[in-house]
Amino acid sequence: TTGARAEPLTVAPWSKTPGEPVLWHPYGQPSPYEKNVVRRSRGATPIPGANSSMTPLQNLHGIITPTGLVFERHHAGIPQIDPEQHRLAVHGLVARPTIFTMEDLVRLPSVSRIHFLECSGNTGREWKGPGTASLQFSHGLLSCCEWTGVPLSVVLEEVGIKPEGAWILAEGADSASMTRSIPLSKALDDALLVYAQNGERLRPEHGYPLRLFLPGFEGNMSVKWLRRLKVGREPFMTREETSKYTDSMPDGTARQFTFLMETKSVITFPAPDHRLKEKGFYEISGLAWTGRGRIKRVDVSTDGGRSWSVAQLQEPVLDRALTRFRFPWRWDGAPTVLQSRAVDETGYVQPKATQLVEARGVESNYHFNAIQSWRVASDGVITNVQV
Ligand code: MTE
Ligand code: CO
Repeated sequence: TTGARAEPLTVAPWSKTPGEPVLWHPYGQPSPYEKNVVRRSRGATPIPGANSSMTPLQNLHGIITPTGLVFERHHAGIPQIDPEQHRLAVHGLVARPTIFTMEDLVRLPSVSRIHFLECSGNTGREWKGPGTASLQFSHGLLSCCEWTGVPLSVVLEEVGIKPEGAWILAEGADSASMTRSIPLSKALDDALLVYAQNGERLRPEHGYPLRLFLPGFEGNMSVKWLRRLKVGREPFMTREETSKYTDSMPDGTARQFTFLMETKSVITFPAPDHRLKEKGFYEISGLAWTGRGRIKRVDVSTDGGRSWSVAQLQEPVLDRALTRFRFPWRWDGAPTVLQSRAVDETGYVQPKATQLVEARGVESNYHFNAIQSWRVASDGVITNVQV
């Protein structure tokens, strides 16, 4: 139903002469015809550098986010750090307080793991009803990369944690001095001191030369430009865990230390950033992820949730990584609503927006993980709705 065109075949100009030489861009860059595939921000902020940019999920394929398209979130801009001068100080309740250079850290045993990173503010504007009419702006504080570094447990073994140690303060070297408290159990389980992302050293915007990475936890805790770890008995009650990154509840209280990123999914094609030109066959495609482990199943509805069918999951389905799903669909040209619903290996089912709001009200800016609905109009225009 697609592809038949009545056009004469011609020899294109680029087929008649040799092309660009090697090294036309020593680092490499996308085709000039892909120039629309870029990170985008909502615009200027009162404090320059305290801003975020979003990943163009509507243009991506598979599960890995190209590094140049990984969303950014900075509380005080991007410091340009000389790795020779960078230090990681580890102190507090440890037997041997130590200052590590980058060289010291890179010498230690390393691992590489593929995981998603999601800002807990991702889709935060959906709490009070349908937010932006754009997948990039609603869900684009999300990425999935291969992370390489030293398990934090290795470094903690070097310094020797005292028996009373139960929490670790992680501090960034940016001028925001961003600090978060990390439970020791997470630090010893799977936390990484990361120096490389998708095969290359971290880029400045993602924490060069060193960042913390906590698989499945809210992005804010993966402190970039990491310069200090302090072991203590209790959480340190920093600004980012008492005022910011807490979830306001309808009764005036707030949920604190909501570390886990819950099970979520979204259809990335078609989305409001696209427009369907004609009726006929389309492959619905999207992403599912969970901080709890692996995605078990994704259901897709093409009739606003009246009926659901099981989507195909693209292998490999990795622990706390994005999982790509696909579902064949023939659009008859009538208005409809497309939805996806993720189920994780623990049996948790991604909730409806109404269920989430019933449980937590509408005052939070964080941890909104409801089913996303895209309305397809008869002219092929797609909008963000809640049904
Ligand atoms: N670490 C420091 N030092 N300063 C920051 O502003 N932003 C946090 C976290 N780590 C931040 C930080 C937030 S809110 C998120 S979501 C992630 O970094 C974003 O990581 P990225 O910019 O590499 O995508
Ligand atoms: Co964030």
